Amino acid sequence: MTEASNFDVLVIGSGAAGLTLALQLADHLRVALLSKGTLQAGSTWLAQGGIAAVLDPQDNVENHAQDTWMAGAKLSRPHAVKHTITNGPEAIHWLIDQGVPFTRDNQGYHLTREGGHSHRRIIHAADATGRAVHQTLIENALNHKNIKIFEYHIAIDLITRRKLGMTDNRCIGAYVLNHQSGHVIAFKAPVVVLATGGASKAYLYTSNNDGTTGDGIAMAWRAGCRIANMEFNQFHPTCLYHPKAKSFLITEAVRGEGGVLKLPDGSRFMERFDHRGELAPRDIVARAIDHEMKRLGCDCVYLDISHRDAGFIKDHFPTIYERCLDFGIDITQEAIPVVPAAHYTCGGIITDEQGCTDIAGLYAIGETAFTGLHGANRLASNSLLECVVYGRSAAAHISASSISQYQDEDYQLPDWDESQVTDSDEDVIISHNWDELRRFMWDYVGIVRTTKRLERAKHRIQLLKQEIAEYYSNYKISRDLIELRNLATVAELIIISAMQRKESRGLHYTKDYPSLSSETLDTIVTPRNFCWPDAVRQKQNSDIH
Ligand code: FAD
Ligand code: SIN
Repeated sequence: MTEASNFDVLVIGSGAAGLTLALQLADHLRVALLSKGTLQAGSTWLAQGGIAAVLDPQDNVENHAQDTWMAGAKLSRPHAVKHTITNGPEAIHWLIDQGVPFTRDNQGYHLTREGGHSHRRIIHAADATGRAVHQTLIENALNHKNIKIFEYHIAIDLITRRKLGMTDNRCIGAYVLNHQSGHVIAFKAPVVVLATGGASKAYLYTSNNDGTTGDGIAMAWRAGCRIANMEFNQFHPTCLYHPKAKSFLITEAVRGEGGVLKLPDGSRFMERFDHRGELAPRDIVARAIDHEMKRLGCDCVYLDISHRDAGFIKDHFPTIYERCLDFGIDITQEAIPVVPAAHYTCGGIITDEQGCTDIAGLYAIGETAFTGLHGANRLASNSLLECVVYGRSAAAHISASSISQYQDEDYQLPDWDESQVTDSDEDVIISHNWDELRRFMWDYVGIVRTTKRLERAKHRIQLLKQEIAEYYSNYKISRDLIELRNLATVAELIIISAMQRKESRGLHYTKDYPSLSSETLDTIVTPRNFCWPDAVRQKQNSDIH
């Protein structure tokens, strides 16, 4: 086994969160930046709509906070909302300084609108904001001499001092598989940052790339971190419905700019569900679509913006226009067939405002973290904002902490032990388990839940976990196996959290408890207490430390 030890900070994940933090630190610290695929892997590249922030003098922090709070069904943590929104404008100016080419109009930067926002406050780069942000940050990272990039390197597990037989549990590195060469490397660093993105791949239909398998959440959980609010998986209402269009999102900004939802007979339906119509928060819109599709037995509904000027549509939504045209749909002339799909993980690794987790030396930022910002449902375009704000505040905390005392600690990390495993000749088991897990999560733990369905899911995941554990201890590690093992852990965390929430709030809707409880509680799962069925302790909205 190889050891890589000449880094101050190991950043696992090269999305908006990981890159922001790496760029903030690299002038004075040596950073290793891992991506399990190319640098473009993950969700950041795909982001369309934009980034929410208070940039218009007519808008204010209180309005943005109130919209976040209402979309989050009053479960957001006030300190996280305040921290994110007050630091938002500075985070956007940092992105502008980095060179992100946001769309301009004759007033300055163009601000668009999305569901749940009472004001135009979404700065964007046409309909491909994520690509513009990501490309800029990637170029800057590639040009920085203190950032060493490792593509196709997948972290398997964190290394903590307890694993070396010491009494404290400080994080000191991670085992990482170079899945092109097949070698496992032990990365040693006094600071490790998880920026691994979300876990929407736990569901059969998703707007996300294949790699969003909740690796950071699963690794942190195994290392001893608490995880919160995993029952709140966000379903985006409008993904393109076409047999060949895997995971293609139709941005909420289409509705923000006047797009309307229609049934197959051409009639509108959103007004029957919410007075805000198409601009209701996305949990409400996704549930309304799901309801209408089940009621009518139809495969999709339609999103229509063809009443707007063709030039306007092509200008504002060039990517969507081109992509739909590839599938024979001219959005300037006809409605777009759409369905909801798993989109965003609101829960995650519990952190404070600086991205600190329960384990010393371990930080978590971006979609993998639970900061308390999103409550029971994320407000549109608050995610990239959270990535940049927390990437910057975690970097400030790392810079201010005295990591030099750990830098030269002289101990050997234990070897990755492969003596008991053989090459697998049964890869079909992995692919079968992937399919099974994602299907029952969609059917039993999806947009509408019941206690009976959750019980079924619990039974299935327990069996699958046993099978996967057996496979993991007998066969050589591979990217697919690492991701499947993590997905199973995350799926279990989602199910156990959903079973604990005996109310319907935000993204968690169960027919058995259709109303809102008067108490606002987070669902917190603690590793040391984890055993079915009463492992979850709910805690009043409060600080975690
Ligand atoms: P990601 O960008 O997902 O990056 C994760 C990184 O971690 C990748 O580099 C991956 O390779 C790496 N990684 C994961 N596991 C491992 C491992 N085990 N070892 C090594 N590396 C690993 N949000 C908004 O605010 N506005 C939008 O307009 C918007 N539009 C969206 C559109 C789509 C289609 C999608 C899918 C999401 C959208 N979101 C949007 C959400 C937002 O894009 C994501 O929440 C955000 O980009 C997450 O960034 P991140 O840095 O946390 O992780
Ligand atoms: C979108 O553009 O609709 C996605 C925005 C988001 O996920 O915040």
